[in-house]
Amino acid sequence: MTHLHITSWVILLILFFIAFAKPSKGLHMAVRIFYLIVLATGLELIFRYNVFSMANYVGEYVAKIFLAIVLIGLMEMVLGKKKRNESSKGIWIGFWIVLILVILLGFRLPLTF
Ligand code: HEM
Repeated sequence: MTHLHITSWVILLILFFIAFAKPSKGLHMAVRIFYLIVLATGLELIFRYNVFSMANYVGEYVAKIFLAIVLIGLMEMVLGKKKRNESSKGIWIGFWIVLILVILLGFRLPLTF
């Protein structure tokens, strides 16, 4: 049952793209609230299903969680650069690569919706 987690990161991504296209303080704040919701729903899955007890998958869980946190950092950097009118091209490349990795790893891992 990962619905809540998926719903929250989809909303996060949508808000993030809008906040990049039309920057505003309120939207940036909403994006930050969704970082916390995504983090909370992810942590909830970790504890509810005690995922680290699945010995075969520990490495992939560590990678998934680490990269997801990096991804949130990259999103915050993109929005920070945008606010300062700086180019975020390099960070965008990192964002897309890490996003794809996180989604692939997420769906590869054994819990499903
Ligand atoms: C923007 C950030 C994130 C994205 C795009 C993302 C994406 C995903 C995807 C696609 C899944 C698979 C859902 C399924 O199989 O039904 C998933 C599952 C999961 N995510 Fe995330 N996630 C993000 C952030 C996080 C964070 C911050 C954490 C931990 C603190 C986390 C922990 C988990 C866990 C434990 C699962 C269950 C994996 C499984 O066994 O299937 N995620 N996530």
